[in-house]
Amino acid sequence: MTDDFVLDVTRIRDEVRKRMEAGPVTGTYGLDKERVIAVLNDVIATEVVCWLRYTRHAIAAIGIDRAQVSAEFTEHAKEEMDHALRAAERVSQLGGDPDFDPKTLEQRAHTDYTTPSDGDLDRMLKDNLFAERIVISTYQEIIRWLGEHDPTTRRVMESILEEEEEHADDLVDLLGI
Ligand SMILES: [Fe+2]
Ligand SMILES: [Fe+2]
Repeated sequence: MTDDFVLDVTRIRDEVRKRMEAGPVTGTYGLDKERVIAVLNDVIATEVVCWLRYTRHAIAAIGIDRAQVSAEFTEHAKEEMDHALRAAERVSQLGGDPDFDPKTLEQRAHTDYTTPSDGDLDRMLKDNLFAERIVISTYQEIIRWLGEHDPTTRRVMESILEEEEEHADDLVDLLGI
């Protein structure tokens, strides 16, 4: 196999000088930037809804295993908020406005905000496992779409995905299934 890679530094230097205000986004950015920003903004909505759901469940949890489950929900909630902030930081780097608008959170989120009225632990664990399994699938699709076109956004999404998989695993352990 022959390697015909030639790096045309002169052409790249000329091109990147043209739009200095775009910061880290250069002509070699491999995707429609606005589309990536829109996808990340829906990730932000998803993470905020997950934060709300876990926070609500941590407070609502009752029963013999309440302390353990509530502590796990609280820990997951913190990580979901951190995911929202990581996606928002990337939106900002791409020159977009992170969208935390509560009016559209529910319709943009991949997951649902559920509020079991009786504080039933099993129901809450299953609701959260369902949500985690949704984001594991949707984030995998996003990562495949990003591919080699935007490696930095892909790594952000990969780091979030890794934690969602840990969340799902924690919930399965608590459910004993
Ligand atoms: Fe998350
Ligand atoms: Fe999660």
